[in-house]
Amino acid sequence: MTQETILKGLVLSFNGSPFDGAPEDAVDLHEAVVLRDGKIAALGTAEALTSSHPQASVTDHGEKLILAGFVDAHVHYPQTAMIASWGKRLIDWLNLYTFPEEMRFGSPDYAMEIATRYLDITAAQGTTTMCSFCTIHPESVDAFFLAAKARGQRVVAGKTCMDRNAPDGLRDTARAAYDQSKALLEKWHGVDRISYAITPRFSPTSTPEQLEAMGALWAEHADCLMQTHLSEQTDEIDWVRSLFPDARDYLDTYEAHGLLGANGLYGHAIHLEPRERDRLREHGAALIHCPTSNTFIGSGLFDMAGLMDEGQRIGLATDTGGGSSFSMLRTMAAAYEVAQLRGTALHPAQLLWLATVGSARSLRMDDCIGNIAPGMEADVVVLDLASTPAIAQRHVEADHLWEAVFPTIMMGDDRAITEVWICGRKVTHQMG
Ligand code: GUN
Ligand code: ZN
Repeated sequence: MTQETILKGLVLSFNGSPFDGAPEDAVDLHEAVVLRDGKIAALGTAEALTSSHPQASVTDHGEKLILAGFVDAHVHYPQTAMIASWGKRLIDWLNLYTFPEEMRFGSPDYAMEIATRYLDITAAQGTTTMCSFCTIHPESVDAFFLAAKARGQRVVAGKTCMDRNAPDGLRDTARAAYDQSKALLEKWHGVDRISYAITPRFSPTSTPEQLEAMGALWAEHADCLMQTHLSEQTDEIDWVRSLFPDARDYLDTYEAHGLLGANGLYGHAIHLEPRERDRLREHGAALIHCPTSNTFIGSGLFDMAGLMDEGQRIGLATDTGGGSSFSMLRTMAAAYEVAQLRGTALHPAQLLWLATVGSARSLRMDDCIGNIAPGMEADVVVLDLASTPAIAQRHVEADHLWEAVFPTIMMGDDRAITEVWICGRKVTHQMG
């Protein structure tokens, strides 16, 4: 018969957005959750669930927090081996560190080695879904999807297209970008839990012809996500202006080529013009906040409060390896710090929501991942809220849930990740 699992603990479920109204009101706590056939089957009191599911195996996690696995809405898995590279801002960082590393992904063996390493590291950090850039090599896409498929993981990724301002060996053409992206999309989109994202890297590395070809492909596959970068650094924006003299602004370089839409994901989106903000909101596009990257590469301070107030859709992401961490806990901490620098204190419920439901919404996947609710896919993380002596001494003093959770958001790392479940299966091979 079907194996059922009951996890007992502090089960956290969102009933709405903590950015609408009092943040705490968006959260419901339950005593237990039932996992069955890769889905969340039920939530309730421990007593009710153990008596209605007598055959289930039960694990009691006591005071630990049980929530949806983290969703990382913008990463570059091929940058795993060069994360935390010193001393450069965006354009020099790309040329000096990123492009030489990405050059190696024409080798299927190397691509598989890094995809496996990346998925091991991130599972150990409680991340169960991510939306990744690959490299220009189709092999880099196949490796990532094969590795994710073997783990039953819901992932999004795409071939990163570039046909200018990148070194020899790391450029395709408008035609090759279209043909290879289309072939990969047809091969992988909708296989198990895999989704394909059409992926022009950013306007400086694509000719107008390539952007046009990507826009045409998106029009033919409008259900796919499209991911790119937008207004990350001021030098980059100046460069875009010189490369596209007729464009009204950076977003217009995408908009003019059919690359602005509701299924679009725009990484960074820091230095936006009023027109860009209006157009992004009108389309219901998603802005992806990458706070450790934005401070590490020196890009700027994302306007979380202002953009939320005007009704933008926002996801949260590590941006590995421009970001300096694989951890969504560290990323929430950085989002808190960046918001503080802009005069807003994000509530812990808002931070957890951004790392789960918010990112799932940005990927248009909040109907199946990002929350603990009956019928959702069983991607779950169990968080120890007293994982180190420094956190534990703070936790012991807490007299309500949010005071108990916040020190782990600010100081927690992979030691706080007690268990991870992907598609109803406990992840057993984790790297520390
Ligand atoms: N803009 C274009 N490519 C990249 C990248 O790989 N990382 C970051 N942070 N920004 C980019
Ligand atoms: Zn990026």
